[in-house]
Amino acid sequence: MEQYAIKGGTPLVGEVEIGGAKNAALAILAASIMTDETVLIENVPDVRDTNVLLQAMESIGAIVTRVDRHTVKINGSQINSLTIEDDFIKKIRASYYLLGALLGKYKKAEVSLPGGCNIGSRPIDQHIKGFKMLGAKVKIEYGLIATEAEKLVGSHIYMDVVTVGATINVMMAASLADGMTIIENAAKEPHVVDLANFLNSMGANIKGAGTDVIRIKGVEKLHKTEYAIIPDQIEAGTFMMAAAVTRGDVTIKNVIPKHLESISAKLLEIGCEVEESDDAVRVVSAKQLVHTQVKTLPYPGFPTDMQPQIAVVLALSEGTSIVTESIFENRFKYVDELTRMGANIKVEGNTAIITGVNKYTGASLTAPDLRAGAALVIAGLAAEGYTTVDDIKYIERGYEDFHVKLQNLGAQIEKVTTEKDFKKFQLQAV
Ligand code: UD1
Repeated sequence: MEQYAIKGGTPLVGEVEIGGAKNAALAILAASIMTDETVLIENVPDVRDTNVLLQAMESIGAIVTRVDRHTVKINGSQINSLTIEDDFIKKIRASYYLLGALLGKYKKAEVSLPGGCNIGSRPIDQHIKGFKMLGAKVKIEYGLIATEAEKLVGSHIYMDVVTVGATINVMMAASLADGMTIIENAAKEPHVVDLANFLNSMGANIKGAGTDVIRIKGVEKLHKTEYAIIPDQIEAGTFMMAAAVTRGDVTIKNVIPKHLESISAKLLEIGCEVEESDDAVRVVSAKQLVHTQVKTLPYPGFPTDMQPQIAVVLALSEGTSIVTESIFENRFKYVDELTRMGANIKVEGNTAIITGVNKYTGASLTAPDLRAGAALVIAGLAAEGYTTVDDIKYIERGYEDFHVKLQNLGAQIEKVTTEKDFKKFQLQAV
């Protein structure tokens, strides 16, 4: 089994280029089959989740041409099945975006119930409510969500919770509905805006994305476009935390600093220097870091997908920090692993009380999910001695060349498969 072997203790120094946003890519790739014309998408991250989604799209007849590692052409004119029932697709949550895309275009879709990261129960009631309000019937049977409509009609939909997934799914279906749809209490995440911009570039009429009221005037059909996906806010944030925890100096390039504001603000509060320029942020961690409080919230609040990474930094910061997870119910599974490295963290319900310690020591760890896995890697980079992180398939779902980008910043990290490889790594590490 592949794992990362890490020798900690080297401050990360240098520059790193951030790739396209995984979560935007998943929505945009799914939406690209909503036209019969060919769509060109650039800045697609080469990560497992996007590749699985592309495979699923090919399995129903979409023609996917890879122009280069980060550019794909997609043509949805030959779609011959509206059922996606694939073991693979269950592993990625965003498979359900194909529901909104196919329902909009063909007024019918059946997709395996989604899985994704195991971070607590993840209901889909708001997606179902949204589709029903557009006039579709929705059934869950035989492990599939099946939805069908004679025609979709615009509607006024109030989301009971702020949900990225349901906002995106409804936005896609409503783009090809008759009349006006208004989504209230919509998610404002950068990838919601990116999808709206993409759909608009295909001829959709969506206004207000990025605010909590989105207005979608249905159009008859969508057309070809060429579009570049925004940079990944969470990949960028992860490298910012890696710089902070290793006492490094890293310039994170190809980012939209505005999307990183809640992360930058916390790093400033705990004692890092953060310099912003047009499309880069530099994080310098030269002083003893200090405690703070973090509560995860929908955008523009602090992202839940950055919660494990900041906890790793706070566990080495002086004083007692409080981290409250308000989006998902089971997102502290990495805490036991960090405790094995010497962290002092107590979890009570959705709150982690973190008492800073002086150092981590290396341990053999297992990645519990995508973001927590990345967080354990950066903990390993800051730890004394050797760390291994297993189950890196989770990390590879959302980070492209993670260990290579870290190596380029001076980290001592390798992907190894055997005990012999690990021994070799130990001999070579300085
Ligand atoms: C997306 C992101 C994920 C991120 C999350 C929150 C993708 C592919 N994934 O996940 O990385 O952690 O946003 O920023 O973009 N909820 C309901 N009913 C629903 C849908 C959601 O109650 O029908 C609840 C969820 O349980 C959760 C909250 O709403 O408590 C937010 O979930 P949501 O924004 O939908 O997350 P995802 O779209 O699944």
